[in-house]
This record gives sequence, C-alpha cells and structure tokens, in this order.
Amino acid sequence: MKQFKCLLPSGIEFGPGKINSLPEMLPGGTTLLLTDKGVAASGIVSRVKERCQAGSEQVHEFMDVPPEPSEDQVAEVVEKLSNLNVRAIVALGGGSVMDMAKLISIMLGDGPNITNLFDGKLPRKRSLQLIMIPTTAGTGSEATPNAIIYRPSLQLKVGIVCDAFMPDRVILDPELITGLPAPITAATGMDALCHALECYISNKANLLSDMLAIEAIRLIFKSLKKSYADGSDLEARADMLLASFYAGICIAASGTNGVHALSYPLGGRYRIPHGISNAILLAPVFACNKDACVDKLAAIAHLCGKDIHGKTEEQKVDAFVGFLEELSRDVGIPTRLSELGVPSDDLDEIVEAALQVKRLLDNNPKPLTRDEIHSIYSSIL
Ligand SMILES: NC(=O)c1ccc[n+]([C@@H]2O[C@H](COP(=O)([O-])OP(=O)(O)OC[C@H]3O[C@@H](n4cnc5c(N)ncnc54)[C@H](O)[C@@H]3O)[C@@H](O)[C@H]2O)c1
Ligand SMILES: [Fe+2]
Repeated sequence: MKQFKCLLPSGIEFGPGKINSLPEMLPGGTTLLLTDKGVAASGIVSRVKERCQAGSEQVHEFMDVPPEPSEDQVAEVVEKLSNLNVRAIVALGGGSVMDMAKLISIMLGDGPNITNLFDGKLPRKRSLQLIMIPTTAGTGSEATPNAIIYRPSLQLKVGIVCDAFMPDRVILDPELITGLPAPITAATGMDALCHALECYISNKANLLSDMLAIEAIRLIFKSLKKSYADGSDLEARADMLLASFYAGICIAASGTNGVHALSYPLGGRYRIPHGISNAILLAPVFACNKDACVDKLAAIAHLCGKDIHGKTEEQKVDAFVGFLEELSRDVGIPTRLSELGVPSDDLDEIVEAALQVKRLLDNNPKPLTRDEIHSIYSSIL
C-alpha cells in the first residue's frame, strides 16, 4: 500500500463570483494585497481591492512581484514590506505571486531570511492569514506547500517545501481569469497537465493522487483548447481552475518528476517560462518513461479521445503520447528549444544541471540515465 501525507487549505470556495466571499475570510487590521503588473493590467485588481477593503481596516497594495522571482528579488520585496504590520496576505496572481506570498508570509518581521530557508531552517507555523486567489490555471501553488525560486548562482530553479506555506483559504473564481491571454492560458494549462501526468506515474503515486490526477487530466483534455480559443468561456475556465487545483494537491501528495526535473535548468539558464519548458518536454519524457508505466498509461489512454479500441497496451500508450505532442502544438507551444534561444553547444551542461535535480528525479518511475536525458534534450533541440 502506498502511503501519503498531504495538507490542504482549510477552506476552498469554487465558482463564478466567489470573490465576493473574501471579506468574511479576513481577520481585520491591515491586509496586504499582493499581485503583479500583468494581473494589474488585466483590470481585475480594483474588484478584489474593494473586497479587501470591506474586510480590513487598511489595505496595502503591492503590484510589483517579478515574474518567476530570484532569491535576490524575494529579499528585496521582503525588505520593501518590512515595516508593515499585516494580519493577512491576499495573493492575487499566478505561481509567481502565490509563491512570493508564501515566502513573505513567514519572512516578515522576525522571520527567517532566504539563506535560512535554503539551509532548511523552516518555521512550523506562521502568524498571519494567507489567502490565495489564482489567476492562472496553472501551477496549483494554492494547494501545495512549495515555493519555487530562481538561484542565479546555480542557474537553477529550486523548490522550498514548508508546511507553513499552506494557505488558509483559496478562492477559485473563473470570472477572474477570463482575461488571461491565450499564450499564458496555453503555457500554464500545460503546466497543470504536467503536474497531473507526472504525479500519476510518480514513484510516490497513491490512491488520493491517482484519483485527482485522472480527473485533472480529463478536465484539461476537455477544456484547455476551449479556454485557449475563447477566453470568455466561463465553464472551460472553471474546468481549468479546478484541474489546476487538483493537480496541485497531487504535487503535495505524490510529486512531479522527469518533466519538471529537465525543465528546471531551462527555466534557470534561459528564463524560458515554466509552463513552456515543461510543455515542450512532456511528450519526449513520457516516450522515454513509458516502459516503466505502460499499464498505468494504457488505463487512461481513452481520455485523449482517440480510437484505441482493440489496440495493445503499447499501442494505446503510443497513441496517448502522440496526443500529448499534438495538444501542445495545437495550443501554440514551440516545438524546438532552438526557437527559445537554447544553443546546441550548451547541451552537455544542461544535462549535468538536470542530473542535479535529484529531489524530482527520485520520483521518476525509472532512473533516467545521463544518455537518456541527453537524447531527450537532443530530440527537441
Ligand atoms: N509552488 C508550486 O507548487 C509551483 C508549482 C508549479 C510552478 N510554480 C512556479 O510558479 C511560477 C510560474 O507561475 P505561472 O505559470 O502561474 O505564471 P506567472 O505567475 O509568472 O504569470 C505569468 C504571466 O501571466 C500574467 N497573468 C497572470 N494572471 C493573469 C490574468 N488573469 N490576466 C492577465 N495576465 C495574467 C502575469 O502577470 C505574468 O506576466 C514559476 O516560478 C514556477 O516555478 C510553483
Ligand atoms: Fe510546474
């Protein structure tokens, strides 16, 4: 029997207009509303700010969270906010904003600095209320105890895992993401698909993560292309938000592996957006992994809608992996690393960097050798 441990937010609200419940979640006092410039430009911040004001004495807005922040940028933001005495943080944004909110929530005041966190000096609790409102679908960060930070010295993105990062409340409101641009819809939706698929074949997969991963995969196959083609399709947006949340729980209960491990050096060195570097690796990593999980993949192959009746397990899995490649192309994801500025001369160094992401490679259904990693990258150069 596969055991699991997983924390969940203590309250989750899902549905159009659920943002209206925000005031009753706030403890009063000063609320920090954290977001970034892209979200601010989408025009949803005033509605959320108004809801923050209804539940607080004072609202402090910070709209400058950098995309996929580095450790220095985290320290800078904490420094800028250090004089605030806040009782709640409302994170309105994608993974970049939500991860920054998690870090700030334990670092403000007398909390640890970023070096302490990398050294594993993690607090068990935090004193302020943390509310997450995802505006991409997405990282599922609202359901994980993880924060991902870029470490320039290593040219790598690194995850910090801390129970105190778990949000108290989560609002999944599809009305807030109808303005998400199509390319970001595509990249973030493919990230959610990677979470669900990797967690489903992970060495740590279990009955909870399998159930949620399969449902997330079904929802994403049903609604990613729809929400990419028509951002105002509220039902498709709702499917994607829920799928991303489910896949986030899967990350916490199971774990990502090969795709994310090989993606981190690409995000670190070339600053390729997280969802894109994952999407481009998804089909080749699954093609390499398939021998180790034929039965599991064959069992969900029908979800892709291809006619697999009467096929062998291997044929079903090949059809499924082919579908993953088509889906990525259909939502406009580049197919070649060279299009994203990755020179072939760097290949050996990228392979070595990927081999360092042991935390995730250990979850892969089979050990990936140096040669296998090399040929995965080569196949998409
Ligand atoms: N903590 C976790 O469990 C976890 C899991 C996966 C990824 N991550 C991390 O999350 C980060 C990526 O997050 P992301 O993919 O959500 O992207 P993001 O948060 O960086 O946002 C991407 C872009 O979309 C814009 N945007 C977001 N919502 C919008 C909206 N509604 N309308 C218009 N524009 C909007 C942002 O301004 C930004 O420019 C990476 O650092 C990644 O490593 C964390
Ligand atoms: Fe991810």
